[in-house]
Amino acid sequence: MFYRRKHLLAIEGLHPPEIGHLLELADSYVLLNRSGKTQRDLLRGRTLINLFFEDSTRTRTSFELAGKRLGADVINMSVSTSSVNKGETLLDTAATLNAMQCDLLVVRHNQSGAPNLLARKVDASVINAGDGTHEHPTQALLDALTIKRRKGRIEGLTVAICGDVLHSRVARSNIHLLTTMGSQVRVAGPPTLMPAEVAKFGVTVFHDMKEGLAGADIVMMLRLQKERMTSSLVPSEREYFRFWGLDAEKLAFAKPDALVMHPGPMNRGVEIDSAVADDPVRSVIKEQVEMGVAVRMAVLDTLSRGDGRNDA
Ligand code: CP
Repeated sequence: MFYRRKHLLAIEGLHPPEIGHLLELADSYVLLNRSGKTQRDLLRGRTLINLFFEDSTRTRTSFELAGKRLGADVINMSVSTSSVNKGETLLDTAATLNAMQCDLLVVRHNQSGAPNLLARKVDASVINAGDGTHEHPTQALLDALTIKRRKGRIEGLTVAICGDVLHSRVARSNIHLLTTMGSQVRVAGPPTLMPAEVAKFGVTVFHDMKEGLAGADIVMMLRLQKERMTSSLVPSEREYFRFWGLDAEKLAFAKPDALVMHPGPMNRGVEIDSAVADDPVRSVIKEQVEMGVAVRMAVLDTLSRGDGRNDA
């Protein structure tokens, strides 16, 4: 057992054996998930609450499925119809759920650091399901599992992460995971959508898409996150697609067997062309979604065991 933390709040700071453990366990859950069978004894008697303050399709559903596959009682709290609307604070909401003997609290919030704050206040294990522009750790784990199963390794691969890096918690978690596990990571995007000092995370920065893609093994596209933009950072979606949208012509600069990834939800015709997104040979976007269930099963299983926990 290599993962002895109580929570999963971020990829940053995790060590290769911890990531390796979660990926191996997740890999062992892929077949179980495909078979539709369950291992209901593993989380029997445990309660998992999905507390999502932001919209989600993939993450929330797959945590629910993962919890049910392992036998947990799963509650999806609808924030829009909760007492949050009456002014209850995040901490009071969490304390209320904590008093119901919740064991696993899956949190998505638009404020970076919200899951870390909750982790200090509740008894449950807290899992970050995406916080602001900070991190989305289970997305990076499912991306890594997809890559490892397709390419047989993560170490030594060249991964190009393209588009709206500035607003992307997916990019941050992937940068931490992939550099920790030995990939060469590039980020490619317009200067207005690139965080200052991103290079200090050990990535190479490109402001030309074709140069960023040249010889890449993996092309990871990011959603243009207009909802997080406080000013106009791109001239128009049409122009963005021309320079930064992944189509067959730009993909030809990557390796011939390069895989195309996208965390979803996709803006078709903005950051990715439908023909590329739906290419049955190159695109692994649906596989990423499938791996999401296996990864979340592994995370729930690992945190529930709590062997030799160091409460980090
Ligand atoms: N990739 C991802 O987090 O998707 P959702 O917003 O649908 O959960």
